[in-house]
Amino acid sequence: MFMDGSMDKLPDKEKKKFFGNIYQKATKLNVIISDILRASEVDTDEFVIDPKTARPAQLEEILISVHKDLKELADEKQIELKLFLLKKKTSPILTNADFLEQAIYNLVDNAIKYTSKGGVSLSLEQQKDLLKVEVKDTGIGIPQKDQVKIFDKFSRAGNAVNMYADGSGLGLFIVKKIVEAHSGGKVSFESKEGQGTTFTIIIKAAQ
Ligand SMILES: Nc1ncnc2c1ncn2[C@@H]1O[C@H](COP(=O)(O)OP(=O)(O)OP(=O)(O)O)[C@@H](O)[C@H]1O
Ligand SMILES: [Mg+2]
Repeated sequence: MFMDGSMDKLPDKEKKKFFGNIYQKATKLNVIISDILRASEVDTDEFVIDPKTARPAQLEEILISVHKDLKELADEKQIELKLFLLKKKTSPILTNADFLEQAIYNLVDNAIKYTSKGGVSLSLEQQKDLLKVEVKDTGIGIPQKDQVKIFDKFSRAGNAVNMYADGSGLGLFIVKKIVEAHSGGKVSFESKEGQGTTFTIIIKAAQ
């Protein structure tokens, strides 16, 4: 419409709607491209968080940053996004904080996307030298039959596709690769269709 000049004839309100659509699609494409790049970056057996290049980080800071970035998305959907931290500072971990933040972001992003009522909570606990990050939602859940493949590339459950058509199915693949790139890092979940899902990340404290 820009090219053939027909955009010029539209009233401002209509123009704004088109600009909005173009902006939204461009943003979505940007997310898809960065997911594909990140997925190929982490998709090798050699991908590990090398203790030599890793830096000490506080999980509290990473969780606060994810909470801040996704609060608006939750507010727009009128979903409560709660953050639970311990009063006492947890032990530092050795990580690449950008990668780990992306993993936690992906989990919270899913929790908000696949929840239409209720809330999402993001919490941090420490048991001895293990740090536990939990992302809990009251959303659509993952159907039993889809659970075994859910960390595979491009894997999406039918109920999620119906709710949100544009996902690429790369988010959880990236989460698993990043978490398991930490020595002793683990990610797991429990989910009931129609009731909700809890994802848990375990990372070892720095020695
Ligand atoms: N919190 C959740 N509640 C319900 N289903 C979930 C949740 N998290 C993940 N899923 C299921 O796992 C699938 C894979 O998630 P993943 O984040 O990899 O991809 P996606 O959200 O579909 O797309 P994107 O790559 O854009 O994040 C989802 O499509 C959905 O079926
Ligand atoms: Mg996702």
